[in-house]
Amino acid sequence: MPQGLDQDLVLVAEDDASNRALLSRLLERAGYRSISVADGRDAIKAAVDEAPNLVLLDVGLPGLNGLDVCRRLRADPRTVALPIILVTGQTASRDVVAGLDAGADDFVRKPYDEAELMARIRSVMRLARVTAEMVGAHGVIAALANAVEAKDASTELHCQRLAGLAHQLGMSAGLEPASLKGLVFGALLHDIGKIGVSDAILNKPGPLSREEWAEMRLHPLIGERICEPLATASQFSSIVRHHHERWDGAGYPDGLRGERIPMGARIVGLVDAFDAIIHERPYRPARSVEEGVEELKREAGSQFDPDLVRLFLPMVEQEHQEIRTPAVRALEALRAAV
Ligand SMILES: [Fe+2]
Repeated sequence: MPQGLDQDLVLVAEDDASNRALLSRLLERAGYRSISVADGRDAIKAAVDEAPNLVLLDVGLPGLNGLDVCRRLRADPRTVALPIILVTGQTASRDVVAGLDAGADDFVRKPYDEAELMARIRSVMRLARVTAEMVGAHGVIAALANAVEAKDASTELHCQRLAGLAHQLGMSAGLEPASLKGLVFGALLHDIGKIGVSDAILNKPGPLSREEWAEMRLHPLIGERICEPLATASQFSSIVRHHHERWDGAGYPDGLRGERIPMGARIVGLVDAFDAIIHERPYRPARSVEEGVEELKREAGSQFDPDLVRLFLPMVEQEHQEIRTPAVRALEALRAAV
C-alpha cells in the first residue's frame, strides 16, 4: 500500500456502472478508500455528507452534469476547497476552459491511463494539503499579530515590516526554507505577549518606572505561553521567548549569551531594535536611518550578534528608501529642495 494514502477517501461520480467499478478498483488498489454515486445530485449530497478528500467527477453525468456539480460544490462553503478532478471524454480546449471556470482542479481523460490518473490524484491532494496547512497556520498567526497591533498603537504595521526585514536577513544568513518560515512567524508574533501588559504601560508617553519595566519584561514569557497551543509553535516559540536576549548575556528573560541565543531570536532582536529606532515611539520621536546604523555598529558584539550586523548593514543601505519613515523622507525632500 503506498505510504500516506491509506486513509484518503475518494468520491467517484460516474453514471456508467462498469467505469464506476473500474475506477473503484483502481483506487482501492492504490490504497484509497472509495465511494461511488451515479448522478449529480447524489454527488453533491455525498460530497457534503461523506467529506471525501477528493472527487473524481464525470462531466457527462445525467441531469445535473459534472460542470454544474462542480460550480455548486465551489459555491458551498463546506466544499469550496474540496479537490475536484473532472473525468471527461472530451478534451477540446473549450471543455478544459469550461471545467476550469467551473472550479475543477484538474482533468483526466477517458480511457484512463492508471499511472497518469494516480499521479494526478496525488498531485491535486498534495496541493490541497499544503494550501489547507498554509491557510490555517497563516490565518491564526495573522489574527494574533493583528491583536497585538490593535493593542499597542505604536507597533502598527511594525510586525509586518519586521517580518519582511527578518526574512531578508535570514536569507542572507543562509537559513533553510523551513527556518525562514519559522522566522517570519516569529517576527509577526514576537510581541504577542504585550496583550498581557497593561495599556497604561504600553502607551506611556514617558520613561517607565522600575515596576512598570518589570511588567513590560514579562511579555516574552507571556507570548511564549499564548503561542503554545498553536501546532506550528515549535517553529518560532524560541523567537518569542528570546527576542530581548543580548549577545553579551545582559538581556532577558534568560540572560542567554552569544550563540546560545537561537539564531531566529538574534535576527528578530536585531531588526526589531533597528525598526524601533527609526520609528516614533510614545516616549520619543523617530531617529534617522543614519543614527540607527550608528547604533547597530556601536552595539555590535554587545547587544547584537556582530556577524548579523555585518550582514544587515548592506541591506539597510540597499533598502534605504523603503526603510526610512515618511517623516525622514519628507525632511530629505525638503533639504534637497532648499
Ligand atoms: Fe518585544
